[in-house]
Amino acid sequence: MAKINFGGVEENVVTREEFSLSRALEVMKDETIAVIGYGVQGPGQALNLKDNGFNVIVGQRRDSKTWDKAVADGWEPGKTLFEIEEALQKGTIIQYLLSDAGQIALWPTVKKHLTSGKVLYFSHGFGITFKEQTGIVPPADVDVVLVAPKGSGTSLRRMFLEGRGLNSSFAIFQDATGKAWERVVAMGIGVGSGYLFETSFRKEVYSDLTGERGTLMGAIQGLFAAQYEVLRENGHSPSEAFNETVEELTQSLMPLVAENGMDWMYANCSTTAQRGALDWWKRFRDVNLPVFKELYSEVAKGNESKKAIEANSRSDYRVRLEEELSELRESEMWRTGSEVRKLRPENM
Ligand SMILES: NC(=O)c1ccc[n+]([C@@H]2O[C@H](COP(=O)([O-])OP(=O)(O)OC[C@H]3O[C@@H](n4cnc5c(N)ncnc54)[C@H](OP(=O)(O)O)[C@@H]3O)[C@@H](O)[C@H]2O)c1
Repeated sequence: MAKINFGGVEENVVTREEFSLSRALEVMKDETIAVIGYGVQGPGQALNLKDNGFNVIVGQRRDSKTWDKAVADGWEPGKTLFEIEEALQKGTIIQYLLSDAGQIALWPTVKKHLTSGKVLYFSHGFGITFKEQTGIVPPADVDVVLVAPKGSGTSLRRMFLEGRGLNSSFAIFQDATGKAWERVVAMGIGVGSGYLFETSFRKEVYSDLTGERGTLMGAIQGLFAAQYEVLRENGHSPSEAFNETVEELTQSLMPLVAENGMDWMYANCSTTAQRGALDWWKRFRDVNLPVFKELYSEVAKGNESKKAIEANSRSDYRVRLEEELSELRESEMWRTGSEVRKLRPENM
């Protein structure tokens, strides 16, 4: 582990320099990694592991389009692609990458195959942390670990193919064999992480649920909608409102922020923009702070996980979801967005 100073706070992290791919392969040389589920994280992690030289099989239910997707990606039925239960039997490292609701449904089957010394691997702290709601309580004689890439499985794969890496957190919930640390770090390196930072299952799920409800998706859509509405109410055209709210942010500013930070962005914009942004950002922070505090508290109380489990287990889940998604899709702002994207020179 390397100690890195992040803005004055020291943290332990693992980089690929300290824990090389060849060391990861050595740790895993006798293991069969069974990736259970081939949704979004499944393909990213399974293909990266395979290309990195690990012994990987995929477990996926057969009567599903996802099985065909796995075949199309090169997994061979009966050799490297199996029904879930067969993969659970063969695997010594069980990568549990079903949706959170799927993990609850399949848990009794998975538990049956967790024989002594195996590793149960998650990419989210949800199932373990909210065990009263999920019923996921692993046996005491298996290692229970987590590697959570901080991004979509699609980006994990794309960045791997570009020779880059997505940062991941890692955690150990249970070290039954005394080898959990090197096993989880080897897996983290194997799936194509950039650097690995340490967390706990609880912290991973609290931060993840807060982030996706907050700045990553929930809060940002709220901010977009509010600004767009004000501009439209004041007579601005959809083009003007959308470009000033979304297009300029995603096409011009965010790539620069990703490269250089928001501090650089503030220092490298027009003096008028700079004055206004400096004057207003703290007001937005202060208005939003109580909402974020409430959000974190709802997550920590287990209310957000409860809502998610209840909603996602309903028989009419897909119908209701479609109604909510169509409200966004049919909004003037995102219909405008669709037209604006078509008009980008690279799409014409
Ligand atoms: N999405 C991401 O990029 C991302 C990022 C970081 C961490 N994670 C974590 O990674 C894990 C997997 O997430 P994901 O987004 O990849 O999940 P997902 O796309 O929703 O996973 C779907 C997979 O679960 C299977 N599945 C669902 N319910 C099932 C059931 N009852 N029985 C059998 N199989 C079932 C699906 O099979 P069918 O297609 O046959 O239904 C498919 O293989 C989660 O813990 C998630 O929190 C995800």
